[in-house]
Amino acid sequence: MGQLSEPELMIETHQLRRTFGQCQAVADLSFSVRRGEIFGLLGPNGAGKTTTIRLLSGQIIPDSGWARVAGCDVTRDRLRFKQRIGVVFEEQNLYERLSARTNLRFSCWLYGLPEKRIDEVLTLVDLRDRASEPVGKFSQGLKQRLLIARALLHRPAVLFLDEPGRGLDPISAHTVRQVVQRLSEEGMTILLTTHLMEEADQLCQRVAFIVNGRLVANDSPRHLKLRHGKRLLQVTLEEPDGQSQRLHDVILKLDDAQDQQQLACWLSEGRVRALHTKEASLEEVFFQLAGVALS
Ligand SMILES: Nc1ncnc2c1ncn2[C@@H]1O[C@H](COP(=O)(O)OP(=O)(O)OP(=O)(O)O)[C@@H](O)[C@H]1O
Ligand SMILES: [Mg+2]
Repeated sequence: MGQLSEPELMIETHQLRRTFGQCQAVADLSFSVRRGEIFGLLGPNGAGKTTTIRLLSGQIIPDSGWARVAGCDVTRDRLRFKQRIGVVFEEQNLYERLSARTNLRFSCWLYGLPEKRIDEVLTLVDLRDRASEPVGKFSQGLKQRLLIARALLHRPAVLFLDEPGRGLDPISAHTVRQVVQRLSEEGMTILLTTHLMEEADQLCQRVAFIVNGRLVANDSPRHLKLRHGKRLLQVTLEEPDGQSQRLHDVILKLDDAQDQQQLACWLSEGRVRALHTKEASLEEVFFQLAGVALS
């Protein structure tokens, strides 16, 4: 997987553009992904996420701009580059009547890959125990893991996952996230798309928000939340209530002069029982940035 000779930037795009008729699906997209990074592409329906993966995996060609993946130009070094990437799309098919292992054996046969790799990829996605069961009996989460296993057979350096958590219950989604995490720890570079802000927040070292085909932000979830989220403080106050003490919470804005004065006053009165800074969620930041981009 992660070889020392690999480039530091495993994905680079420069002003990538793709239109379908009148629809500009991807416009002037420029970003890069470092080796071993989990990079999340977030955006509303129709934002251009799947189109970006299709461009970066060589399934469609850009109208203009360029992209390099694992050191290869995606339009020129097609054969070499296809050997370096794995792709998992939602609508991909598995043979439902065949077992997980036979599905993988079939792919090995199709692409001339050694079958000894099958046990390794089944282990990577935690599917060894279920390998002999027909795929038709699999839940959505198990199928997703098998699709990932299939995409790993040829030891790609970069893995593209289109909506890996879509349609999964929280436990299955968590298992898929663990698999992605493990692959990244082994040096694989992963670009995934998602609607699930929580998933992106937990999993991705960096996320990019895409709206109408354009990037509106590209940073670590932490930086995005600190930069764009409102700085709030949750103050737990003690209210005298007859004999007993009643507690209640008030939210103050850290940057507001009046709120600062109010806090100083409560502190001097000794009424403050607890203080918590409240970080904005990635979802709030997304709504803010996407809203600005859409207006
Ligand atoms: N083959 C195509 N022909 C025509 N228009 C297309 C084609 N593929 C994508 N589009 C259009 O390009 C835009 C971006 O689509 P894309 O599938 O990349 O969005 P997305 O962000 O993946 O959305 P979703 O969250 O719904 O999966 C949409 O307006 C879509 O209708
Ligand atoms: Mg899509």
